[in-house]
Amino acid sequence: MKSTAVILAAGQGTRMKSSTPKILHPLAGQPMITYPVEAATRATSEIPVVVVGHQADEVRAALGEACRFVVQAEQLGTGHAVQQAEDQLAGQTDLVLVINGDLPLLTGDTLDRLVLTQTTGRAAFTMLTRLTDQSRGFGRVVRDTSGEVMKIVEESQATPEQLAIRELNVGAYCFAADWLWEALRGIKVSPKGEFFLTDLVEIAFEGGDRVQGIPIEDPSEALGINNRVHLAEVEAALRRRINRRWMEAGVTMIDPESTYIDARATIGEDTEIWPNTYLLGDTAIGEGCRIGPNSYVVDSKIGDRCIVLASFMEGARLENDVDIGPFARLRKGAHLKDGVHMGNFGEVKNSVLGPGTKVGHFSYIGDATIGPRVNIGAGTITCNYDGKNKFHTEIEEGAFIGSDTMLVAPVKLGKGANTGAGAVVTKDIPAHTLAAGVPARVIRKLDEDD
Ligand code: UD1
Ligand code: CA
Repeated sequence: MKSTAVILAAGQGTRMKSSTPKILHPLAGQPMITYPVEAATRATSEIPVVVVGHQADEVRAALGEACRFVVQAEQLGTGHAVQQAEDQLAGQTDLVLVINGDLPLLTGDTLDRLVLTQTTGRAAFTMLTRLTDQSRGFGRVVRDTSGEVMKIVEESQATPEQLAIRELNVGAYCFAADWLWEALRGIKVSPKGEFFLTDLVEIAFEGGDRVQGIPIEDPSEALGINNRVHLAEVEAALRRRINRRWMEAGVTMIDPESTYIDARATIGEDTEIWPNTYLLGDTAIGEGCRIGPNSYVVDSKIGDRCIVLASFMEGARLENDVDIGPFARLRKGAHLKDGVHMGNFGEVKNSVLGPGTKVGHFSYIGDATIGPRVNIGAGTITCNYDGKNKFHTEIEEGAFIGSDTMLVAPVKLGKGANTGAGAVVTKDIPAHTLAAGVPARVIRKLDEDD
């Protein structure tokens, strides 16, 4: 049977008190709505239909090609929202999987089970429920004496006895499509002025059709988000799930509670992550590395056997056997090749450092190409900016840059060139030549093996 998902994402989420729509708030580095979209796509193998309304363009832009969209111009309730998908889907699918957009922890496996239960049972629809004492504003599932699901009562309309019910409506349903489109027309406007999707339970019950309520196996999957307290709880749950997955895949975490890994980041076997470390965005780390403590890595690639100690990396790349820190800062376009060593208080931007090159102590390397086995002395600075334009520095293999050298770009130092301590280099230095002074002047030629 063919199933297609409809994801409800038209609401503003007033309880978030935000100018950003609720479902675009990020969780582990990506918008909340991307999680139900991915889980629903896995469970149905069809491109889901997303109902948009509030700030529709932003929601569309965040999801792009992964979804089809229908617009709910006025947010008249969850039932009305689903109705907007009828034109797209009527006659196109046997089952309609409806998911509230604010349920990011629901897994593809759980949605599979929901679809399967609807496929095999004889019911108008099947819904996920959750057994808990913490209602968080969820609707209560009312069953009759024989255990059949009779209706859902929203918290705002529940009697004291109904408020005591521990079985809650999660907000994920799988409908027989033909039944759904017909039944939606029967929903009456609620005292709140909305058309509640949840009224379909009573409509089915009164029409003699069954509704199956299946309790979710892991109740933490059903944590919904209505406000920023919930947002923080779900973020923590999601991060625990991500960390667990990486530990099961062979990554050591000294303290998972203070390890922050975004959904898209990847980590190789036998890598250790030390406390208070952030691996964010599109970060990929190889095997046998040690990252942290206190490291912040965004959109960066790290090879095998690297050490990143108390350092910052953004849009940077380390090849294999590189060690940086403590207190190194690699910015966009920093590329450190095999075996580079970078010690404390170095900054590298838009530069390539060749294999085995050493930058042991405080330095600024910007817009430079540095060859293999170059030694950069403490306090070396590439003066790459004249206030208007950026200029390039080139240093060839085996050069030795004395402490406190200023390299005034554009400038090129040939193979094996040396600078004296405190040199201000304004002109190119030929290969195997020592230059020193302010401004630097050639002192003498050096032996080729120096
Ligand atoms: C809904 C359920 C409630 C359930 C809870 C759990 C209804 C009437 N109630 O309540 O039984 O326990 O979810 O998740 O369905 N939306 C639209 N258009 C609208 C209104 C809402 O697209 O006109 C979207 C929202 O963006 C949101 C989702 O539907 O993603 C759910 O809406 P929300 O207002 O959060 O419903 P709840 O009050 O949580
Ligand atoms: Ca909600």
